[in-house]
Parts: sequence; C-alpha cells; structure tokens
Amino acid sequence: QAELPKGYRLRALRPEDYELGFLDCLRVLTTVGDISKEEFDKRYQWLAKQDGTYFILVIEDTNTSPSSIVGTGALIVERKFIHDLGKVGHIEDIAVAKDQQGKKLGLRIIQALDFIAKETGCYKTILDCSEHNEGFYVKCGFKRAGLEMAHYH
Ligand code: ACO
Repeated sequence: QAELPKGYRLRALRPEDYELGFLDCLRVLTTVGDISKEEFDKRYQWLAKQDGTYFILVIEDTNTSPSSIVGTGALIVERKFIHDLGKVGHIEDIAVAKDQQGKKLGLRIIQALDFIAKETGCYKTILDCSEHNEGFYVKCGFKRAGLEMAHYH
C-alpha cells in the first residue's frame, strides 16, 4: 500500500468538506455546477441513508490552514440477483487536485476503495475511464475488460 505524504489524511467525506474545497477538487474531473451548502447537505444526507451503498472518500491536506480536500473517489456497491445475490463495486468520480497529482494520492484512493469493495463482499470492482487514464488504472491493478456504452439524456 502506498503511503500518504506527511499531514495528509484519507477518510470518509464529511459535511464540512463543502467548506474545505471538496467540490473544487471534483472540478478537475468535470462540470460540477453551482451547488449551495443546503443542496450539498441534502444530497449528503440522502447518500448516508443508503446504508452500505455509497462510500465517498477524500484526502485532506492538513498542512494548510484551513486544511483542504486534495483528492476524492467514490465506491457504489451494487446488489445483484446473479452470482448468488452477488455484489459489484463501481468506482466513480476519482479526482486529484491538479497541483497534487503525481504524489500517489490517486493510487491510494483506488486501493482504499477496492479494499472497501472486498470487505463489503464485492466479487469484483469495475470502472469506466478514458484511454488517457488507462495507464493509471493499470498501475492500480486493473485491466481492460469490455466496452462502455452510453445514452446521454
Ligand atoms: N496515464 C498513465 N499513467 C498514469 C496516469 C495517466 N494518465 N496518471 C498517473 N499515472 C501513473 C503515475 O505516473 C504513477 O506511476 P508510478 O507508480 O510508476 O510512479 C501511478 O500511475 C500512480 O499515479 P498517482 O500519483 O497515484 O496519480 P494521481 O494522484 O495523479 O491521480 C488521476 C491520477 C486520478 C487520474 C489524476 O490525474 C486526476 O485527477 N485526473 C483528472 C480527473 C480524472 O481524469 N479522473 C479519473 C476519471 S475516471 C473515474 O473516475 C473512474
């Protein structure tokens, strides 16, 4: 397992991360939009109620004051009928702040999410990524499998 730099903490998302730059961290990935604290809290509470389904991790850099969220990633545990009521882990929304990339933070997030997937009984963990990020996920122990299709609404 990769070590975190000094003063960096990997932990579950908390409501106060709204003020610590959680949404800005996600902005390196895609459009986030203008989300108010109330909207953020409402979504956070809803996710928290889906017991054992959503695991959102963040990496907090406590070397700054206030500290800041420099990385994040999510695991969604899907419950199936097939494979004897099997579970599949879906990794989503991995983002590391631009000036923090290359410090193995992404790798650490993936390792932690995959560990949770294994602990919750998932028989596999899957994700979709661009060709550009394939090398990163290969370094995290993943391999190319299948083909993604999408229907945007
Ligand atoms: N292609 C090939 N290798 C890569 C890439 C890449 N795009 N990015 C990192 N690596 C390598 C690193 O060089 C390192 O290799 P090493 O062990 O030989 O030194 C290894 O992968 C681990 O890299 P990290 O330092 O852990 O990567 P980082 O913390 O920079 O995070 C990430 C990588 C998450 C892709 C980051 O660059 C990022 O946030 N990018 C923008 C958002 C994004 O594209 N997120 C992924 C979307 S897919 C999804 O969410 C399921």
